[in-house]
Amino acid sequence: MTKTILITGSTDGIGKHLALKLASEGHEIILHGRNSEKLAAALRDVKASSSNSRVSAYLADFSSMTDVYRFVREIKNHFTQIDVLINNAGLYSGAERLATSENIEITFMLSVMVPYILTKELQPLLEHSNGGRVINTSSYMHHFAEPQGLDFGFEKKYSPKLAYDTSKLYTIWLTRYQAHQFHLQGSKITVNAYHPGLIATNLVKGSKATKDSETSKLLSKAKGLDEGIKTGYFLALSPEVSDLSGAYFDDMKLAPVSEKEFSFEKAKQLIDYCDQKIAMFNSN
Ligand SMILES: NC(=O)c1ccc[n+]([C@@H]2O[C@H](COP(=O)([O-])OP(=O)(O)OC[C@H]3O[C@@H](n4cnc5c(N)ncnc54)[C@H](OP(=O)(O)O)[C@@H]3O)[C@@H](O)[C@H]2O)c1
Repeated sequence: MTKTILITGSTDGIGKHLALKLASEGHEIILHGRNSEKLAAALRDVKASSSNSRVSAYLADFSSMTDVYRFVREIKNHFTQIDVLINNAGLYSGAERLATSENIEITFMLSVMVPYILTKELQPLLEHSNGGRVINTSSYMHHFAEPQGLDFGFEKKYSPKLAYDTSKLYTIWLTRYQAHQFHLQGSKITVNAYHPGLIATNLVKGSKATKDSETSKLLSKAKGLDEGIKTGYFLALSPEVSDLSGAYFDDMKLAPVSEKEFSFEKAKQLIDYCDQKIAMFNSN
């Protein structure tokens, strides 16, 4: 049976490649991007190479909370059911701390805040699926995270690496928290996080982190996109994980997670921070 699958950040890299594969297998694909030209090109490419007409595209700049909520409203207006939500959009930011107008640091915004909002807002559509799945894109780099207490916005201390690694750890905290909440609600929705592998995409090639010699050695070991979509594809469709929730995967297997400073109390503080930031946008 084919699924309806929303993939954020599907104009390039892992997201676009995954969209191409899933569309070619007949699934209905909702593409998302922030750049209208890249989004139009992705829509054209995915439709043409899959011969699947059930592909649509939605524009939203996730560095704007207003745009995130406009995107959510459009999706809710156009769809009644989503089977798989893949929170894939992400970035490796620059030397200067960039933040949204709500003072949410941009790496955190993409890796934590947007996945939180989309999952929360699209829950009714995921409930219409018989076992909706949410997939949050984390990274192996979460092992190098340095949680900053209640400073989830990296206001006191910032570097692009600190923001990236630590936000990807928070992605896992978010995943565990949401999985627990769905369980308490008696929901059949599952939510899991994963590392796609070290894949030679714009994010990796363009990041400052890959310009130092140690990381450029690592980059020479980067894998191609066919490898980079394997775990996301597995989590989206495999019956093997239909009942698993709150877990972290690497290479299509359960993988160890950094427990650095994790507790449900800390995860709740993370969610409280997110809730404060979205209070004025909340439709519930
Ligand atoms: N590549 C790796 O080795 C690796 C390893 C671990 C985790 N990951 C994670 O995998 C995910 C996909 O990354 P990738 O490697 O495929 O990178 P990528 O090729 O740069 O793709 C990132 C996607 O996110 C979109 N995006 C960036 N900023 C956005 C914004 N403000 N609003 C909306 N969309 C935005 C990009 O749009 P544009 O096309 O307009 O730039 C693109 O579609 C990310 O979450 C990344 O952290 C990657």
